[in-house]
Amino acid sequence: MLSYPASAVSTPDGQVNVLQITDLHLSSHVPAAADETSSEVAVCQYNFEAIIKQALSAERRCDLILVTGDLVDKVQAEIYDHIFDVLQATGIPFACIAGNHDVTDENNSELPFFQRELIARPADRRLLNRHVIETDHWQLLLIDSSMTGKVEGEVTLSDIDWLCEQLETCAKPALIALHHHVIAVDSDWIDQHMVENADIFWQRLATFEHLKVIISGHTHQEQVRHRHGVTVYSTPSTCYQFKPFEDDFAYDKSALPGYRWLQLANNGEVASWVERLDT
Ligand SMILES: [Fe+2]
Ligand SMILES: [Fe+2]
Repeated sequence: MLSYPASAVSTPDGQVNVLQITDLHLSSHVPAAADETSSEVAVCQYNFEAIIKQALSAERRCDLILVTGDLVDKVQAEIYDHIFDVLQATGIPFACIAGNHDVTDENNSELPFFQRELIARPADRRLLNRHVIETDHWQLLLIDSSMTGKVEGEVTLSDIDWLCEQLETCAKPALIALHHHVIAVDSDWIDQHMVENADIFWQRLATFEHLKVIISGHTHQEQVRHRHGVTVYSTPSTCYQFKPFEDDFAYDKSALPGYRWLQLANNGEVASWVERLDT
């Protein structure tokens, strides 16, 4: 039995291959079959396990799975139980952090986004904040950017202090994982719901040259940006995608569910790419 959460990962060659999955948005603990995927709900149920299966069937060794928030669409312990069972069954170390949907239920989801009622929910105790995963050559820092009852995110000043302390005390190349994006993706409606104090976050963290990579979810799309020597990756949802560069809410019906690989090399370099679910 794996112990959760992963806190140290060591590999024969030192390199760590990370699988990032994000924005699962499950609303039931019962998985859907492939022939039942006519509704969006069923698609999300099916795709989570289909993606795990596809990613882990690759030749590549997977050393760690990071799940970066919005695991559920409705906050229910049974759904987390199911997700954790599926992840445990992989036998691969893993860690999960919260997104807005893990701490906020949206009522009236049939209404336009701004008319929905947002209800604060406590986060499942298995979702992490201020968690370190140490590898032979890297430090991975996991932060909870969610705010109960809200769609937008925040990295609190004490969490920023904690990140700075980690970076001051460990000189290894660093990756930060959080749910909300810290760089605008040039899509007005979702950029209103990014980390709202991203300016302070960058002011404080830009000084650390060994901060190499930031990964997030929330935007349901693939993007890569660079700031202050940091490569910032946004990763598609395992379920539905948002249309890039749209100022009003829009689904991207043409984009398939996806996931991201990150190969953290021993010399501090990173290679990363997105793969999409085979249809
Ligand atoms: Fe999401
Ligand atoms: Fe989100």
